[in-house]
Amino acid sequence: MEELLTGLRACAEPTRLRLLALAARGAFCVMDFADILGQSQPRLSRHLRLLVEAGLLERQREGANVWLALPQAATPAGSLVRSLLARLPEDDACLVADRRHAARVLADRARIASESFRSKGADWDEMRALGLPAAAVEHALLAALPAVDLGRVLDIGTGTGALLEVLAPRIDSGLGIDASRQMLALARARLAKPGLGHCAVRLGDMYRLPLPDAAFDLVVLQMILHYAEDPAAAMAEAARVLRPRGRLLVVDLAAHGRAECRERLAHRWLGFADDRIADLFRTVGLAPSPAISVPGPLEIRLWGATSLAPVAAKQPELESTQ
Ligand SMILES: C[S@@+](CC[C@H](N)C(=O)[O-])C[C@H]1O[C@@H](n2cnc3c(N)ncnc32)[C@H](O)[C@@H]1O
Repeated sequence: MEELLTGLRACAEPTRLRLLALAARGAFCVMDFADILGQSQPRLSRHLRLLVEAGLLERQREGANVWLALPQAATPAGSLVRSLLARLPEDDACLVADRRHAARVLADRARIASESFRSKGADWDEMRALGLPAAAVEHALLAALPAVDLGRVLDIGTGTGALLEVLAPRIDSGLGIDASRQMLALARARLAKPGLGHCAVRLGDMYRLPLPDAAFDLVVLQMILHYAEDPAAAMAEAARVLRPRGRLLVVDLAAHGRAECRERLAHRWLGFADDRIADLFRTVGLAPSPAISVPGPLEIRLWGATSLAPVAAKQPELESTQ
């Protein structure tokens, strides 16, 4: 009861309720909140601290920035804050204005990120850069997965978060990890749409995921393994965070001979053969299933595998009392 009262007290203030309503649209820094609400940073920092202490917001440090976001829905504070926010009138003039300002802040961030990519001559949309059939890949991926209840999903190397958006209607929660702050800025702008409040992104390295063991029902590595210096280590880390009987999906290029991908797009590997991926799966305790092919200028393959259930400890046989 004390926890509930603390949560309710923390929400019961106009600015704090507005901050929570914004956080339901995506993660923001204090500076963004100050810009959106037109209030001073010290004042907002005090409100935000209260919300964090009550467990209604979570802080995530990313270099010099601290991001504030709603906790995952599965936590008591997460479900409390979401059920309170569901009662807010969508057409409240103050909230409508906040959402409009927030959309501007997110669009600015996405513009800065894409300018930064352009100035480096990079392209964040690799499928487009290679002329790959992104829609067909998406279709194959959706067809390969159950239509509902995918549970907790982790997208490693999420890029602009497109996969999370596609999977959103089928999942309880979605987390994207990426090593690039610019990619994360684009992903946050994408995920700040209605209906995507259960999806979030975080800075992280695929070799050292900032996540506990066995935390996800589905883990996806889409178009990232060909960058990995050490695919076995990346796969082991993905398997670590997968729950027993959870599913790992690797979507990547089939083995190909386009050597220019090394120089032009910094690929480490020119795709993968089925045997290699199956070996990697087995090495980390995953049982491979048959691969699915998506033809195109470069063939894309979807390799799935299931995490084996831990072997149940053998019960000692009861000694006969007779
Ligand atoms: C080609 S993009 C693929 C993005 C997304 N998965 C998709 O299919 O559209 C590869 C992504 O992997 C990310 N990445 C590369 N190395 C990484 C690492 N060590 N840890 C996490 N992300 C990494 C890049 O920043 C980039 O966003």
